Amino acid sequence: MDHIGELGPVDPVQVGVIGTGYVGLTVGACLAHLGHRVTCTDVDVEKVAALRQGRIPIVEDGLDTLVAEGLEQGTLSFELVHPEALGRCDVVFLCLPTPVRDNGDLDLSYVEQAVRHASGHLRPDCIVVTKSTVPVGTAARVRRWLGRADVHVASNPEFLREGCAVRDFLEPARVVIGATDERVAARLAALHAGLHTDVVVTDPASAEMIKYAANAFLATKISFINEIGRLCEAVGADVTEVAAGIGSDPRIGPEFLRTGPGWGGSCFPKDSRGLAYLAAVNDVSAPVVEASIRSNDDQLDHVYRTVRRLVGPADAVAMWGAAFKAGTDDCRESPALALADRLVAAGIEVRIHDPAARFAGRPGVIRVASAVEACDGVAGLVVMTEWPEYRDVDLQAVRSVMAGDVVCDARDVVDGERAVAAGLTVVRLGRPNAAEHAGAPVLA
Ligand code: UGA
Repeated sequence: MDHIGELGPVDPVQVGVIGTGYVGLTVGACLAHLGHRVTCTDVDVEKVAALRQGRIPIVEDGLDTLVAEGLEQGTLSFELVHPEALGRCDVVFLCLPTPVRDNGDLDLSYVEQAVRHASGHLRPDCIVVTKSTVPVGTAARVRRWLGRADVHVASNPEFLREGCAVRDFLEPARVVIGATDERVAARLAALHAGLHTDVVVTDPASAEMIKYAANAFLATKISFINEIGRLCEAVGADVTEVAAGIGSDPRIGPEFLRTGPGWGGSCFPKDSRGLAYLAAVNDVSAPVVEASIRSNDDQLDHVYRTVRRLVGPADAVAMWGAAFKAGTDDCRESPALALADRLVAAGIEVRIHDPAARFAGRPGVIRVASAVEACDGVAGLVVMTEWPEYRDVDLQAVRSVMAGDVVCDARDVVDGERAVAAGLTVVRLGRPNAAEHAGAPVLA
């Protein structure tokens, strides 16, 4: 593995991006911001029309500004997918969906289709780069699908968190490039000139594995602290103190040690299962990854049991937050919606507020326009997404409309002092206070 140090000024390159989801749009807008000429393509006619007018279909901090900037300066354009659009590109990023199958394997049909479609139109010496998460070995398959000896294939996995994807792109911890040819690696590294970061160059399979391993490791770290949190509740310790105490050891580090309702989103669940699948098909034992997934399920179960215990035989509860985390409208694999479904299955109506989440209506779930309105007549409130605005909700108003007085704050958002002053009882995960309720029976 080689490290290329900090990079110099940008030499503009013609870039193509196939797919304008969270990853493709961020990559395209950020590369245009760095000075490259970027064409983003998609099959969705309406989406392309909206993007051409600077309307972006997702909630992502700072992305609208970069898209507007790129459109205005003429460095960023959006086109319906047609192979000719890619014919003038030096580098083409594949940012396509790779849906997960039931067994944990990924469906690469969108990638295969796009590659086969583009193949005959790419200019010689072009580099085709896999950007969204793909199974280890995909670069080799892309090479076969392309069937072009004069076109290069490389891996450049993304490490973009939804909600701060633009910042993660422009201030990355590192850029990872997997390429078999040094010249190709150098061209991709140069694309990122202007970013003050190290570039890690390795082979394509290792680059693909770095992505899986990074996500599975971070997910395991969260599963671990959630597990310690459950233990803290049982023995009267405070998980935030424990997280600070272990996180100050540089070998462990303070990041990703926040307890919560469990990890969700489109990445950690998918990549953890993907790694477990990869281990299984290669006949390699991977008990850590498997346990991390199981422990994450246990955490949601723990939140469910805590809520049931706190609210007793309730008709309705309020839920603040539906997105899998704050800063995004994404509800894929959201612990909040999984909890809502379980409460509904137990005969409890769920009144959800979320400032941005996009989710389809579901039986037993009522979406309301304000955080206070969600609490109208409910036995208890559970906070599932850490939207900062929940810190400022009028808790007196909340208490006055609630039938009960309990708040299960799974995200540490509610101000404890103001809650007490309003007559609310707040139970947080991994804290001694939750232990006080541990003896109460769990309702079936
Ligand atoms: C994750 C990775 O962090 C990115 O580096 C990666 O590029 C991305 O997946 C991807 O593969 O595309 P993301 O899923 O957007 O990013 O969200 P994170 O901020 O990593 O959070 C994942 C989950 O862990 C969320 O449910 C979040 O609430 C939870 N979490 C995170 C915790 O419960 N505790 C923490 O301390 C941190």
